Amino acid sequence: MVTWTDFERATIQDIFSKIDYDIVGPDALSRCLIVYPWTQRYFGSFGNLYNAAAIASNPKVAAHGKVVLGGLEKALKNMDDIKQAYADLSVLHSEKLQVDPDNFKLLADCLTIVVASQLGKDFTPEVHAAFAKFLAVVVAALRKQYH
Ligand code: HEM
Repeated sequence: MVTWTDFERATIQDIFSKIDYDIVGPDALSRCLIVYPWTQRYFGSFGNLYNAAAIASNPKVAAHGKVVLGGLEKALKNMDDIKQAYADLSVLHSEKLQVDPDNFKLLADCLTIVVASQLGKDFTPEVHAAFAKFLAVVVAALRKQYH
């Protein structure tokens, strides 16, 4: 059972109130596809992922980035039981999409970088720590149905 301090709860809420979902989702997903190119293999239906410029301007990548942020919002709204809230999403990624679960951490790292760049000086070490914990719980919940 994950417990959250008041500071962590307030900080996570604050981060999501400050970031622009339409930028963070697409930028994080496209960064992941560029930096860790093996993650492209799951997005064969997304068309041209030929180079960094193509990935960054691909409308399907942008749209899916927003879907991922929607997934994070679900975690935000269910902070006391992210595992339960993510049960179906975990089954989808493991059984249907067969995404290697190591990739969740890679996308989480890209999300951290993009959020840091949006928050600037507000992304203090304490804020970073709270966000890292949130993403670690999200990644663990996504991994849950793998066996
Ligand atoms: C679909 C969230 C990581 C590959 C989805 C969906 C959500 C989501 C909400 C839509 C589910 C639905 O349609 O019901 C997340 C979150 C992640 C994550 C929160 C981690 C923070 C990843 C990673 C990969 C991946 C790392 C692959 C490297 C996919 C694919 C789909 C999908 C291929 C289906 C896309 C489509 O064809 O529309 N994800 N995901 N996900 N995810 Fe993830």
